[in-house]
Amino acid sequence: MLIPKTYLLALVLSCSFTLTTCTKRKRLPSSAYAIPGFNATYDYLVVGGGTTGLALASRLAESASVAIIEAGGFYELDNGNQSIVPYYSLLIPFLGVAPDYPRHPLMDWDRTSTPLSGADGRTIHYAMSKTLGGSSSHNTMAYLRSTKGSFQRWAEVVGDNSYMWDSFLPYYKKSCQLTPPDWKKRDTPNATFTYDASAFSSRGGGPIRVSWANWVDPTTTWLAKALQALGMKLSTEGFNSGTLSGIGAWSNTLISPKYAERSSATEYLKKAIEETEIMVYHHTQALKVNFNAQKKATSVRVSTQGLEYVLSARLEIIISAGAIHSPQLLMVSGIGPKNTLQNQNIPVLSDLPGVGQNLQDKLFFTVSSGITTPNVISIVNNPANSASLLHQYLDDQSGPLSSAGGYLSFEKLPAAFRTNFSARTRAALATLPADWPEIEYIVTGFPSSQSRIPTVGALSPTILFPFSRGNVTISSPNMADPPVFNLGWLTDPIDTELALAAFKRIRVGWNSSAIAPIKTGPEVSPGPGVTSDADILAYIRKTCNQVWHVSSTCAMGKSLANNPMAVVDSKARVFGVTGLRVLDASVFPFALPSHPTATLYALAEKIAEDIISSSGKTWVGR
Ligand SMILES: Cc1cc2nc3c(=O)[nH]c(=O)nc-3n(C[C@H](O)[C@H](O)[C@H](O)COP(=O)(O)OP(=O)(O)OC[C@H]3O[C@@H](n4cnc5c(N)ncnc54)[C@H](O)[C@@H]3O)c2cc1C
Ligand SMILES: *[C@@H]1O[C@H](CO)[C@@H](O)[C@H](O)[C@H]1NC(C)=O
Ligand SMILES: *[C@@H]1O[C@H](CO)[C@@H](O)[C@H](O)[C@H]1NC(C)=O
Ligand SMILES: *[C@@H]1O[C@H](CO)[C@@H](O)[C@H](O)[C@H]1NC(C)=O
Ligand SMILES: *[C@@H]1O[C@H](CO)[C@@H](O)[C@H](O)[C@H]1NC(C)=O
Ligand SMILES: *[C@@H]1O[C@H](CO)[C@@H](O)[C@H](O)[C@H]1NC(C)=O
Ligand SMILES: *[C@@H]1O[C@H](CO)[C@@H](O)[C@H](O)[C@H]1NC(C)=O
Repeated sequence: MLIPKTYLLALVLSCSFTLTTCTKRKRLPSSAYAIPGFNATYDYLVVGGGTTGLALASRLAESASVAIIEAGGFYELDNGNQSIVPYYSLLIPFLGVAPDYPRHPLMDWDRTSTPLSGADGRTIHYAMSKTLGGSSSHNTMAYLRSTKGSFQRWAEVVGDNSYMWDSFLPYYKKSCQLTPPDWKKRDTPNATFTYDASAFSSRGGGPIRVSWANWVDPTTTWLAKALQALGMKLSTEGFNSGTLSGIGAWSNTLISPKYAERSSATEYLKKAIEETEIMVYHHTQALKVNFNAQKKATSVRVSTQGLEYVLSARLEIIISAGAIHSPQLLMVSGIGPKNTLQNQNIPVLSDLPGVGQNLQDKLFFTVSSGITTPNVISIVNNPANSASLLHQYLDDQSGPLSSAGGYLSFEKLPAAFRTNFSARTRAALATLPADWPEIEYIVTGFPSSQSRIPTVGALSPTILFPFSRGNVTISSPNMADPPVFNLGWLTDPIDTELALAAFKRIRVGWNSSAIAPIKTGPEVSPGPGVTSDADILAYIRKTCNQVWHVSSTCAMGKSLANNPMAVVDSKARVFGVTGLRVLDASVFPFALPSHPTATLYALAEKIAEDIISSSGKTWVGR
């Protein structure tokens, strides 16, 4: 079509006169949101617009037509400013673990475990976000990568060398971009650190923003001294270069120190909405995957608040519904342990005994003591500070509200704490790679209810490789009914032996002269009276909590012949059917020693490349 020159001229002039830039848009952003109720067909369907699903779908959309099916909505609306302001991530009410936690029906799936025999019979509310961005919209934003040894083990277990660290690192780099710490805003000379910028892309990188908080809780710098006193060294490279060892100031998924807001998986979606034809079905739950006679996944029956219709895939369907709901959707669709399916009258399409099994969930517990340093919660809650801190955040993006992070440390327990390990425990721990830390220590502080103690300081060991196993199963063939899950906590004696040793080690840390200047009063929790192994263990069983890293319920493996409990191959393809993959924390072959999101984003980058190259399409990949 010929456009009259005068028209073009008018366009140029109108731009220069108003001094705005003329933006040519590929389409309206609102065109990315589907109208429910109409059957439609796309190249790819991604079920679950969470952490992994949004990264994967957005990359696929660069080369193909893609629809995302997400049960929730938009956390930017549904969770007020709670998912935006870093400090709030520490206190989101629906993170409560007791069954009577404060409910948030717009954000949380409201899922509660079965009674846990190893954890004093407790039932645990396990927060998981029902929203675009999934759990990356309300997690603690720690960005940490896994270790070289854990990737070597991954490569061996799945028989695919592309999982070796050197091959996987480019996907970490592709998924994120680094903003250096803003030392001026951090303004804490005793909390400086070094990091390895070469672990990040020098050519831009991907949508997830990684940086460090603009403020440091003084309690955490002090508690880090207790860990140093135990012999853990300050890490000089941080936790993104293939080692998890010693103490470090962890990086966060923060938009940038300049804006100090959460960066979640929706970074991928925002970019895809601008640059691709991606379609989003929000408030839409996948009910069942349908297959043709050749066992190829062809469509998904969905429900938008009760309105049911069918979305079809020309090429593939990828389930990214998270470690609890992905196995549920597989089972109701006919893929899973034969007995479970038959009990629910579900025709068996692929008998995979591993679906929902191998559940691994890390847990932590706390030894706390009174200390004199101020803690972030008391600082923020002090009415004398509240106006100035709000302005500090709004005007300068700094101060306590801008910060969600402090210090973490990692180690294998030293010899003195292994003396009582059983032969079985020793043998099991010896199978872990040399660079695989057994324990992670988290340091935090919170207000005390006793007036003479300003702060309760908490040193919290986390068991990083649980040998205990839980499971997920179904109680009905209907996705509207909640899945049934058992977290397995502390049911294997290896984990209780580790917990006991870590508990004793952290008590020694509390005793160190390094933090004597800030300690006040006797141990708060469990208290000095708790000394026998039996009492310590009873305390741990009563009080331990999840770190929300549940994984491995659709574990990756070489083949069914090699591992009958495997569910997907190294390219995340489900065994026994075609056209179907699972990609999220459920496919980790084992719980990784790091925190999951960094690796989930990278895994999405890796599998997106594989999906496009196996489709015969050209990888456009921006
Ligand atoms: C409180 C908390 C703190 C954490 N802190 C950290 C941290 O600091 N650092 C870190 O790395 N990790 C952290 N994690 C863990 C991390 O956030 C999760 O491991 C990760 O987000 C899981 O990603 P995923 O893609 O497997 O699942 P999710 O992100 O949970 O995505 C699953 C998505 O699928 C959707 N869905 C489910 N079923 C259906 C269905 N039938 N139809 C349609 N949609 C469906 C869900 O609504 C959700 O959006 C934390 C988690 C929590 C809960
Ligand atoms: C949508 O697809 C389903 C299954 O193929 C079919 O039963 C239904 O009639 C279709 N709906 C419309 C409006 O075409
Ligand atoms: C978050 O929202 C609440 C309620 O509107 C408000 O009181 C609070 O000041 C807000 N916080 C920030 C940091 O803007
Ligand atoms: C670090 O500096 C802050 C602010 O000056 C102070 O409150 C805190 O006690 C210091 N911590 C240590 C371990 O020196
Ligand atoms: C080992 O067991 C002995 C005897 O029960 C106990 O005194 C000691 O504290 C234990 N050591 C460790 C590191 O757990
Ligand atoms: C899940 O684990 C519990 C506890 O070990 C066990 O009783 C139950 O049978 C298991 N369920 C499935 C489906 O494996
Ligand atoms: C802590 O120190 C006291 C006094 O030095 C000592 O008696 C006690 O055994 C120590 N406890 C631990 C767990 O190190």
